[in-house]
Amino acid sequence: QTLEGRDLTSLAKYIKSSDCGKVILMLGAGVSTSAGIPDFRSPETGLYSNLARLNLPHPEAVFEINFFRRNPVPFYTLAHELYPGRFRPTITHSFIRLLAEKELLHTCFTQNIDTLERRAGVPEDKIIEAHGSFATQRCIECNASYDDEKMKDHIFRKQIAKCNKCGGYVKPDIVFFGEDLPLNFKLAVPHLRTADLLIVMGTSLTVHPFASLAQMVDKTCPRVLINLDHVGDFGARTDDVILLGKCDDVVRMLCKELGWEEELLALWNE
Ligand code: OAD
Repeated sequence: QTLEGRDLTSLAKYIKSSDCGKVILMLGAGVSTSAGIPDFRSPETGLYSNLARLNLPHPEAVFEINFFRRNPVPFYTLAHELYPGRFRPTITHSFIRLLAEKELLHTCFTQNIDTLERRAGVPEDKIIEAHGSFATQRCIECNASYDDEKMKDHIFRKQIAKCNKCGGYVKPDIVFFGEDLPLNFKLAVPHLRTADLLIVMGTSLTVHPFASLAQMVDKTCPRVLINLDHVGDFGARTDDVILLGKCDDVVRMLCKELGWEEELLALWNE
């Protein structure tokens, strides 16, 4: 057993040991809630429980490609609220950068479309935006790409952007339900088998295929869950560490244990 205590102290000891060279992260909306961005499924505060005003058949429809084709208005309304630029990265995002600076971060798989990992200074080649982002956009009918500035303008004015070529609706390259995940996601998946540590933060682990990544690490690779709720099959493996709480609080305690707290705060205050 690698992580005897299955707690913060044994985790910090393992991270500092020579056995731990390749850390892989899986992130969800819970790492950005302290930045002011709602998650999806938390009761009361989550996006899905606050979409009644958009008159959707069911909340997830806002991210369904067939629904968007019929009615893009709800998505554009939401995009206006979620558009990156208005939010500052969190302590947890700075922790990810710190892992990269310590040359421990191998890959940061994120479901988030807020681009806060990049904005916190995590190297782009370490980030896999599994559900895409607002960085680029295209026509859902003919796939023609659409100008970044024009798109921004449309989202700010809550106006539906239409393709210059065929008139089809334009959608940011966010992966909707019913769409394939990006190629770089598929190419990065095999690296999980060789990870020395998996840290899962701020996700309900309900959306597949992303959620299934947590099962792909080797049986000998310790897995850590940092989340408000106990999710997935954490606890099923001997070396699973479950740290329930707010990501920022747990990450800060972990950095204290590692002797990295000052560096963490310096990065966050940059
Ligand atoms: P969810 O809203 O499903 O889950 C967020 C998880 O984070 C929940 O377990 C919360 O309890 C937890 N959480 C919230 N705030 C937290 C905090 N400060 N510290 C620790 N934990 C916290 O969000 P995701 O799992 O990211 O897909 O959702 C997955 C996908 O479903 C999203 O990428 C999105 C959505 O439909 C698309 O848009 C394609």
